[in-house]
Amino acid sequence: MKKMFGNVLQQWTEFTGQGQANLYDRHRAIVPPILIERMITFLKEKYSQPLELAYDVGCGSGESSRVLTPYFKHVVGTDVNSEAIMEAEGKRGDQTCSQIEQAEGGWAHQNLTYQICPADLIPEKDNSVQMISASQAAHWFDLPKFYNEGQRVLSPGGVMCLYGHKCPTWRWSEDPSLNGELDQALTQLYATDLKGYWAAERDIVDNSYKNVTIPYTDFTRDDSCYHEMETNVSDLAKYCWIWTGHQNYVKQHGVRKGKKLIRKLQERVMSVLNVTTSPEETILTKRTSFFLLMGRKL
Ligand SMILES: C[S@@+](CC[C@H](N)C(=O)[O-])C[C@H]1O[C@@H](n2cnc3c(N)ncnc32)[C@H](O)[C@@H]1O
Repeated sequence: MKKMFGNVLQQWTEFTGQGQANLYDRHRAIVPPILIERMITFLKEKYSQPLELAYDVGCGSGESSRVLTPYFKHVVGTDVNSEAIMEAEGKRGDQTCSQIEQAEGGWAHQNLTYQICPADLIPEKDNSVQMISASQAAHWFDLPKFYNEGQRVLSPGGVMCLYGHKCPTWRWSEDPSLNGELDQALTQLYATDLKGYWAAERDIVDNSYKNVTIPYTDFTRDDSCYHEMETNVSDLAKYCWIWTGHQNYVKQHGVRKGKKLIRKLQERVMSVLNVTTSPEETILTKRTSFFLLMGRKL
């Protein structure tokens, strides 16, 4: 029994302090290169001059800014959170950066700067920016103000791209007939146990930004991009630990009750799979599906 459920108490020690920050890093969604290529292709459809400047607003620790650097002469990442900007600055030479950066072979990002700044304030001249992107962030913005600022700074033909992802799904390749039960286990935690602990803005993400429209007549959305990776049941549990809904639950009820919820999830998943391997040895496929909204200033 011990092997089946792993030494869960010991593994939770990494869920505090720097361990928690590392968890965020290890489990964050990886932006699929194809999604960035879609954004660039959309821009180039009607903009044929050199790509001088992109803004990634709500950039967090900078992953969504770094992926733009191969395409633009200069990229600026902005965020209202000064700690996020400090973290982004600290990752300039990070060897663990995303796959797209590895493919491009560069780490230094000489063409990337960061600023502490709200989304509706883009400190640039009128008509000077070719792309404004926001990854998993636009649901926090004052959108009418943000759109006005975008309209001011975007060059004619410049584009605004808002994207994000819903909660991933986990798949069991050895017996796909169990996938429905896996979904139910996750839904129990996400929508029932943590009901009331998510910010209201989370609904906008859960609805894949279906009610969000960029106010340009040349507006389109793409729901075809996803990222898939092998993971294990222990990592699934750690991913759920860092959900903001769960973090809010921990703040309200304490770490012990927070651990109990996650342990319940892990035990249910192991019982659905009915295997003798440990959670660390039990491999699942994690799929993160992205939605992408793109609008062009004419
Ligand atoms: C979920 S994080 C996404 C970070 C990053 N773009 C990514 O994809 O990993 C959302 C970010 O939006 C930032 N944010 C929220 N409201 C903002 C606003 N009004 N202006 C600028 N940034 C904002 C938060 O500080 C946070 O860093």
